[in-house]
Amino acid sequence: MVKISLKTLKNRAKKEIEKAKDLKRLNEIFNKYLGKKGELTKILRSLEKLPKTKRMKVGKTANELKNFLKTEFEKKTQVIKKKIGKATEEVEWLDITAPGKKPLIGSLHPLTLVKRKIEEIFQSMGFSVVEGPEMENEWYNFDALNIPKEHPARDRWDTFYLKNGLLLRTHTSPVQVRYMEKNNPPLRIIVPGTVFRHEATDASHEFQHYQIEGLMVDKKNSVANLKAIVGEFFRRFFEKNVEFRLKPDYFPFTEPSFDIGISCLVCNGKGCPACKGSGWMEVAGAGMVHPNVFKNSKLIPKDWQGWAFGFGLERLAMLKYKINDIRLFRSGDLRFLKQF
Ligand code: FA5
Repeated sequence: MVKISLKTLKNRAKKEIEKAKDLKRLNEIFNKYLGKKGELTKILRSLEKLPKTKRMKVGKTANELKNFLKTEFEKKTQVIKKKIGKATEEVEWLDITAPGKKPLIGSLHPLTLVKRKIEEIFQSMGFSVVEGPEMENEWYNFDALNIPKEHPARDRWDTFYLKNGLLLRTHTSPVQVRYMEKNNPPLRIIVPGTVFRHEATDASHEFQHYQIEGLMVDKKNSVANLKAIVGEFFRRFFEKNVEFRLKPDYFPFTEPSFDIGISCLVCNGKGCPACKGSGWMEVAGAGMVHPNVFKNSKLIPKDWQGWAFGFGLERLAMLKYKINDIRLFRSGDLRFLKQF
């Protein structure tokens, strides 16, 4: 009876071991036959009840079967472990010779690069970097700069008027007055900042752009001094000698006034959309500080001489990097931005 059972048990166990697909199932089969309450364990325990001769015979076969099953379990365990190892290897395999993935690193916006360069140049010439509010009041943006209500120049600098009575400043010039009210000359400052205009856009005009105001006030100061500083700035900024000109212009807050133009570096003075075909690009307004501006800043005009300029930062960046459309700066186009 036991003998028949052992043979059947052997075949059954063998088949089940063969079929087992994972270690969990194999463990279940092991417990079924060789665990504490396993079928073979029970048989081995019941041997003592058999007569001596039968016990020895059946005992021998049962022990052989036990050893056989143990070996089968061991073999199958190895087979399954190998399979698991291969699968993990396939998933986790690492080719250490493959080139690494390049992390995406951003870069500074061209206007930031240009702004930093300009600040560095002027700081090395003794100028302090000063800021002012983008939301400005009418007094500083217009009246204090000698542009009273109804003055036609208000049209030239038309802007966005806010519900809170303020406006978006049209230039960085208001900071001239704000600074001189609180600081006595001699002084040298530059004022970088965003300005806003109510005007249509084209290749060289934006409704929002960046300006760099410059102001130098001293006992003795002249247009010659302005020209020397601007020339030195151009040389260092463009890293070469560039042709520039001061053309008579009109600003209510300077007298005399100039428009500073530079031979267009985008087309080498031949004429292109960026310079509207003229070969020259207007990059700044400038002039000697008007006596009324000194007065409005609580300074006595006859005591001081000063000059000021207002550069368009985008225009300088366009010339430096040969960019023929100002709208590219705020387009968010990565093909453009990645070049810097
Ligand atoms: C002014 O804004 C004066 N405040 C400049 C000034 C300062 C004159 C101190 C005298 C003394 P203007 O509007 O011309 O001037 O602008 C100055 C510069 O900003 C221009 O030369 C040009 O380079 C740039 N700019 C003007 N309008 C735009 C625009 N819509 N888009 C881009 N750049 C502009």
